[in-house]
Amino acid sequence: MKDILTAPFMTEMIRTTTNMYAHGWDERNGGNISLLLEKKQVKKYLDIDKVLRTIPTGFSAPELEGKYFLVTGTGKYFKNVQYAPDVNLGIVRLKDGGETAELLWGYADGGKFTSEFPAHMMSHAARLSVNPDNRVVMHCHPTNLLAMTYVHDLDEVQFTRTLWQMCTECIVVFPDGVNVLPWMLCGTNEIGVATAEKMKTARLVVWSQHGIYGAGADLDETFGLIETAEKAAEIYMKIAHLPRLNTITDEQMHELEAHFGVRAREGYLS
Ligand code: 13P
Ligand code: ZN
Repeated sequence: MKDILTAPFMTEMIRTTTNMYAHGWDERNGGNISLLLEKKQVKKYLDIDKVLRTIPTGFSAPELEGKYFLVTGTGKYFKNVQYAPDVNLGIVRLKDGGETAELLWGYADGGKFTSEFPAHMMSHAARLSVNPDNRVVMHCHPTNLLAMTYVHDLDEVQFTRTLWQMCTECIVVFPDGVNVLPWMLCGTNEIGVATAEKMKTARLVVWSQHGIYGAGADLDETFGLIETAEKAAEIYMKIAHLPRLNTITDEQMHELEAHFGVRAREGYLS
């Protein structure tokens, strides 16, 4: 059996949480990540018949029955993951239609998966239904996106269009746009259901006055997605109070669509 701390999924998770902390997106225990693993990946490093603990999830997700996830722990600080991965991370397998998580590795201090586990698992199910290659759900508190939810219209078309207008390549990176939820109580099944519904039509979902969710095929891609939206929000927050003399026009957006072979979300451009 190989050492799990050398597994590429583990080193990438450690690098990603460390980098997200460095970007200022994950103060204290802010943020959480779940990474869908293949059984054959896990078997190289763990005895998958050895269940350390079973933990009730409080929701059902029959689509995810038997699936394995590497998940950040609740109350854990992203800045500490690199120093104690087995305390701050865990590997779980879902059973009983998603109502139970079997712990196979990690949460070594008796902890458990993130309080946002419902939003993560329901989002995985939603994204897998539209893209079978989806592996990652990532949540964090990027400063400028969060700031923007205090001063910008929360209408999804308006919010998306503003972000697209802030950097030329935004429309190329997230042509599906950004969906927006109003403020809701976090850590609940209700916000999980609402997030998953929004995840069916976009890979980015803003939680107003809280943060953002991103989804993607791997950690790098998902990080890059949030990074691009956050960069756009940063520019917006720098210019929102100034007269706008120039912008990226819808005509130019159509040029970008044609050049990069992407299709902007239906009805979002004139
Ligand atoms: P956890 O520590 O439970 O992951 O919660 C952090 C967070 O960002 C809640 O939205
Ligand atoms: Zn949060």
